[in-house]
Amino acid sequence: MEKYVIKGGTPLVGEVEIGGAKNAALPILAAATMTDETVYIDNMPDEADTNVMLSAMANIGVIVERTGRHSVKINASQVSDYRIENEYIKKIRASYYMIGAFLGKYKKASVVIPGGCNIGLRPIDQHIKGFSALGATVTIEHGMINAFADSLNASHIYLDIASVGATINIMMAASMAEGKTIIENAAKEPHVVDLANFLNSMGADIKGAGTDVIRIKGVEKLHGTEYTIIPDQIEAGTFMMAAAATKGDVTIKNVIPKHLESISAKLIEMGCQVLESDDAVRVVATKRMRNVHVKTLPYPGYPTDMQPQITVVLGLASGISLVTESLFENRFKYVDELTRMGGNIKVEGSTAIIEGVDKYTGAEVSAPDLRAGAALVIAGLTAEGFTTVEDIRYIERGYEDFDMKLRELGAQIEKIDSDRDLQKFKLKFA
Ligand code: EPZ
Repeated sequence: MEKYVIKGGTPLVGEVEIGGAKNAALPILAAATMTDETVYIDNMPDEADTNVMLSAMANIGVIVERTGRHSVKINASQVSDYRIENEYIKKIRASYYMIGAFLGKYKKASVVIPGGCNIGLRPIDQHIKGFSALGATVTIEHGMINAFADSLNASHIYLDIASVGATINIMMAASMAEGKTIIENAAKEPHVVDLANFLNSMGADIKGAGTDVIRIKGVEKLHGTEYTIIPDQIEAGTFMMAAAATKGDVTIKNVIPKHLESISAKLIEMGCQVLESDDAVRVVATKRMRNVHVKTLPYPGYPTDMQPQITVVLGLASGISLVTESLFENRFKYVDELTRMGGNIKVEGSTAIIEGVDKYTGAEVSAPDLRAGAALVIAGLTAEGFTTVEDIRYIERGYEDFDMKLRELGAQIEKIDSDRDLQKFKLKFA
């Protein structure tokens, strides 16, 4: 099994280029099947989750052609099946975006119940509520979600929770429903806006994405387009935290600084310097961070996908910090691993109480999920001695070339898959 081995203690210095946003790419891929014409997508991240989605699409007859590492050409005029259930697709959450896409275009869809990161209960009641409001019949049978409708009709939908997934799914289906749908209490995340822009570039009529009321006038047909996915807010934020944790100086390029404001604000409050330019942010950390309190919230609040990374940084800050997770109840599983590295963190309910320590010490840890895995890597980069991070398949779901990008910033990290490699690494960096 592949793992990362890290020799900690080197400040990260230099420049890193951020890729396309995974959580925008996944619904955009699904939405690309809503036209029979060809769609060209650029800035597509080359990560496990997006690749699984592409192969699931190819399995049902979608013509998927990689025209470059980060560009893909999609044509869904020959779809042969409305049932999506291969063994890999089960593992990614975003498979359920095929329901919104197919329900919109074909008025029927059948998709295996999604998995995804195990970060807590992840109900889909708001998705079902939205599809039903548009006139679809939705059933869950034999592990599949089935949705069909004779016709989809616009509706006024009030989401009980500003769910990213439900907003996206409803937006796709409603784009091809009859009449004007209104989604209230819609999610405002950058990837929701990116999907709306993508659909609009295919001829959809969506207004208000990025606010909590989205208005969608259904159209009969969508057409081909060329589109570039936005930069990944969470990949960028992860490198910002890695720079801060290692007391480094990193310029994070190809970002939209506006999307990073809640992260930058916390870093500044902790005593870091964050310098913004048009499409880059530079994080400079020279001294020990100060404690701050953080509560994860929907956008534009501090993102839940950046919760483990900031906890790792605060674990080294002076004073006591409180980090409250308000979206997913099971997102502190990495705390046990961090404790093995010398962290002093207690979790009570949905709050982590963090008493900063002077240093982490290297240990063997394993990634419980994608973002927590990245956070443990950050801890390893600061730690005394060697850290191995197992189960890196989680990290590879959503970070392209994570180890390579870190190495380019001076980190001593390698991907290994044997004890021999481990010994070699230890000799090299002894
Ligand atoms: C998306 O998940 C992201 N995944 C997650 O990123 C991210 O953590 C999350 O949004 C919040 O920003 C993708 O985009 C593929 P939600 P999603 O629906 O859509 C509850 C990562 O690391 N809820 O906004 O599943 C739910 O339980 C991943 O990249 C319902 O109760 O998140 C949660 O408490 C992990 N009923 C809250 O809403 C529903 O029908 C927000 O979930 C739907 C959601």
